[in-house]
Amino acid sequence: MYSDRIKYVGCDDADLDLFESQYEVPEGMCYNSYVLFGEKIAIMDAVDPRKTQEWLTHVALVLNGRKPDYLMVHHMEPDHSGSIGAFLQVYPETIVLAGKQAFQLMTQFGIEVANQQIIKENDEISLGGLTLRFIAAPMIHWPEVMMTYVPEEKTLFSADAFGKFGIYDADPDDWACEARRYYFNICGKYGQPVTRVLEKVAKLDVQTIAPLHGPVLDGEKLAEAVRLYTIWAHYDVETEGVLVAYASIHGNTRHAAEVLADMLRKRGCPKVAITDLTRDDMGEAIEDAFRMSKMVLCCATYDMDIFPPMHLFLHELGLKLYQNRTVGILENGSWAPQAGRIINGMLEQMKDITIVEPVVTIKSSLHDSDLPALEALADAMMK
Ligand code: FEO
Repeated sequence: MYSDRIKYVGCDDADLDLFESQYEVPEGMCYNSYVLFGEKIAIMDAVDPRKTQEWLTHVALVLNGRKPDYLMVHHMEPDHSGSIGAFLQVYPETIVLAGKQAFQLMTQFGIEVANQQIIKENDEISLGGLTLRFIAAPMIHWPEVMMTYVPEEKTLFSADAFGKFGIYDADPDDWACEARRYYFNICGKYGQPVTRVLEKVAKLDVQTIAPLHGPVLDGEKLAEAVRLYTIWAHYDVETEGVLVAYASIHGNTRHAAEVLADMLRKRGCPKVAITDLTRDDMGEAIEDAFRMSKMVLCCATYDMDIFPPMHLFLHELGLKLYQNRTVGILENGSWAPQAGRIINGMLEQMKDITIVEPVVTIKSSLHDSDLPALEALADAMMK
């Protein structure tokens, strides 16, 4: 509840194990929904079907016997659209507002809508005292996405943009940590579309951002979120430092990675992060790779290829358009080391990746005779 005319009716989902069946959410998730009261009433988005009944209860309490005139659908992914059908059974006369492609997706998802109104960019709908002005936001991160600006409240309903993992009140003083992990894993591929929407939004007087996940943003938090989104959307470096990411079968590659990380710290590297790609959260490894300026990949050879957790990591980085970074390589192999060659080939598919020399090869475990090469790699990563 942050305005007399805009009420929050979203739901926390504290017990969700994996968001999108892949992202760990130790602090849960929230599905935001808002009710706007002009002379007419508009509801901004439904919620995940896990929370349908709770959401309908929130909506009914806020409506207090009144009927909604509109349901605005900004995004058709089921964590928002999954309760539209149940809502329309309770409020069948509601006019559903959405873009043309969103209505196609409703049909595909089996959602029957009797009262449709197709909206497009720059259309306006007056609620009487409040205006809904629509902004197309394609590929953030689905093609049908719309945002809505309400000038009387200087509020932007931003769909998934500016969202984060966690229930609504999680990390009240640290929006960026889980917003960054959310951004790079879900929107990372779409830096150009995000940039285009940021340019449109920059022309508006936005004092409040109301996303579909995470807290409503205003004041300094809003300014900081826009600053970070601008960096992220341009694939720019947020933090100078090195991520050491290792995929180790029996611990020998891990040991070499840890020795290298120590060498970097001793050289005064401003930040060194280390991640075990076989055990740590892959989403966080992706986030750190984009956040930092440099990365060293340490990997065992496996079946004349690379150990699969490293393959998954590089595959995901490729999907998210990892680019414009400096990368070092340490390979391990007991009889025919191949990891460096394979990693190099995968990095060559990415844009503006600088491979640091030397590529270090160890055989089975790190030996004293390997240390000069490791020192040379640490030196090169500091340049
Ligand atoms: Fe929150 Fe793309 O759904």
